[in-house]
Amino acid sequence: MAIISDDDGLENVSRVKKNPVVKPETIEYDTTFENTIRPKDFDSYIGQSALKETLKITLEAAKKRGKSLDHMLFYGPPGLGKTTIAGVVAAQMGVDIRITSAPALERPRDIIGILMSLKGGEILFIDEIHRLNKVAEEILYPAMEDFTLDMTTGKVQTAKTLRIPLPKFTLIGATTKAGELSSPLRDRFGIINRLEFYTTEELAQVVKRTAKILEIDITEEGAKAIAKRSRGTPRIANRLVKRVSDFAIVKFDGQINEEVANYSLNLLKIDEFGLDNTDRALLNMIIEKYDGGPVGIETIAAALSEDVRTIEDVCEPYLLQAGLLQRTPRGRKVSPEGYRHLGIKMPSEQTSLF
Ligand code: ADE
Repeated sequence: MAIISDDDGLENVSRVKKNPVVKPETIEYDTTFENTIRPKDFDSYIGQSALKETLKITLEAAKKRGKSLDHMLFYGPPGLGKTTIAGVVAAQMGVDIRITSAPALERPRDIIGILMSLKGGEILFIDEIHRLNKVAEEILYPAMEDFTLDMTTGKVQTAKTLRIPLPKFTLIGATTKAGELSSPLRDRFGIINRLEFYTTEELAQVVKRTAKILEIDITEEGAKAIAKRSRGTPRIANRLVKRVSDFAIVKFDGQINEEVANYSLNLLKIDEFGLDNTDRALLNMIIEKYDGGPVGIETIAAALSEDVRTIEDVCEPYLLQAGLLQRTPRGRKVSPEGYRHLGIKMPSEQTSLF
């Protein structure tokens, strides 16, 4: 991967050449590992088949028209491949992608600097775009709509508006919270797509692909066992492949089969639903302290000494999708399925007074 050096002095942005993808520095995970295994084309990108089909058509149409791509918004829980698909889009269009995230665009000059350094056709990827501040958003509106940068100079009475033309670029925004995007910003995206959780079969394919790249010996059943406990999320599946492989090498003969996978995942305290200690603690706490709920998210976060955002973005989406937790107007509630999963008897819905 050729990362072009930032000789324009831009901070907080990863400039990447044709398809390699770099994660924003604000998010902590193993970018080297993720980048090594990231698919670079639609064929090696597993899952999200409806999204892939529509994107292929959009890309082909843009190529035939000789125009830049419409701005795109990808939303969905973390780890489902929003950055990855943006990288695939860039690679398929044969253009460079510049990757940053909203929290890194704090000052107006951050976003202005990036916009002014873009080249025609380039893709600007902004992760966590729902966290963009008002000023940055307002700079983005004319940039997205007319490819201009509207700047005001001078004092109030003598202020002049300067319109600086920008090259035609494509903005790809990614968010875990589409609902938190302001409507003017959301309306400026021509293409809005939701990424879905992966099926066990799809995740097993992701696991096998990653194992092959990392030269890890794995059986079909071993891949499936890891897939089942990966919470529908390729990022988790990939992380588990690596961890289980460590066990396979140290405790077994190096191969990941069903027994090795289950043994390792049990030791890692990842249960057959893919829940870890934090998820189980969350459900247990709501049951023990709040009779199963409903209870507000702030209370849950405080009781677990966790950040509200971590609960909302990382734990909750899968617990809701798996039907273990329910969202009600009065807060979160553990579902009957959630009680069953923890092996706790559910109090009857109504207590008789007699
Ligand atoms: N790694 C992360 N997401 C992936 C996907 N959708 N397909 C293949 N490998 C992946």
